[in-house]
Amino acid sequence: MTKIVRMKKPNLAVLCEIGRSVRKGKLVVFPTETVYGLGANAFDEKAVRKIFKAKKRPADNPLIVHIANKKQANQLAKKIPKKARILMKRFWPGPLTIVLKKKKIVPRIVTAGLSTVGIRFPLHPVARKLIELAKVPIAAPSANTAGKPSATRAFHADRDLLNCVEWVIDSGPSPIGLESTIIDCTKTIPVLLRPGKISLEQLEKAVGTVQVFSSNKKKIVAKAPGMKYRHYAPKATVELVHSMELVDRVQVSKGKLLVLTLQKKPRTKIPKKVVWKRFASPEMLATELFFWFRKADELGFSKILVDYPSEKGIGRALLNRLQKAAKK
Ligand code: TXA
Ligand code: MG
Repeated sequence: MTKIVRMKKPNLAVLCEIGRSVRKGKLVVFPTETVYGLGANAFDEKAVRKIFKAKKRPADNPLIVHIANKKQANQLAKKIPKKARILMKRFWPGPLTIVLKKKKIVPRIVTAGLSTVGIRFPLHPVARKLIELAKVPIAAPSANTAGKPSATRAFHADRDLLNCVEWVIDSGPSPIGLESTIIDCTKTIPVLLRPGKISLEQLEKAVGTVQVFSSNKKKIVAKAPGMKYRHYAPKATVELVHSMELVDRVQVSKGKLLVLTLQKKPRTKIPKKVVWKRFASPEMLATELFFWFRKADELGFSKILVDYPSEKGIGRALLNRLQKAAKK
């Protein structure tokens, strides 16, 4: 039976018990500041295999390893280049995953056979305490079935996935709502593999030029295996539209339509079947995006219209997730 516990702040006695059970090979759904994770002892191959099975995740898609302090990175990575060190100092703990050359101790199954490992030191106090008390790094993808939007609520962890899990820690909505920024620091010029809350501008300010990964370039596809899969997709069709066209598009719409936008609802008449959901900032939209993707499916919307975010700050990450969700 899956045990569900609620905690806003770390409850040491309970986290100690959960940590022990993770160390012994059980799975846990736990909160982070980005999205909920599905975690296992990163050194336990059998436990990690259960993650792939529970998520129906392709075996060539590596997992991020979560740590409880900066020193633990030395246990996992062969060498920590200067730029990686700068990034750790500037952004850890926080929503940044750093890809480094791995040590042998990291099982192949975790990194899907790659010679590198993605390491993340999360900011969420419950996540940090859990990893600390587990006394082992925790390998964890987002707590959703492969292809679905990431879970930003504990109860979004999909039902079939929960059958394989011993514990669920519910700490309420994920504050950021989009997965961590991923940067590959194995080359002289770091490569941004996945945009997130820590923006390209922030990264470049810290370490100078950062190359932006493009999935069109065959050469580097192998660098970020997860990027080739369809992601974040609700059942409803997602369509990106230019701000100026939004109202016109809504007025001619048919069927149940959800609009996610920064724009005010227009005074002009819009069809009854349209729900207009306005967000005060791109950050707020980011936080709630996956929640609304899931809500749209629950409520039977056939289409979701979103206006193109600007590519500044969190906008780049938003655009990335929206384009993936919009892919047919
Ligand atoms: O915010 C997050 O990063 C969340 C929370 C739970 O920490 N985790 C998360 O994990 O989003 P997941 O598995 O859903 O996405 C991890 C991505 C995948 O696209 C994977 O391909 C990439 O990270 N990745 C992991 N290790 C890598 C490596 N060594 N090299 C390149 N990409 C890697
Ligand atoms: Mg994921």
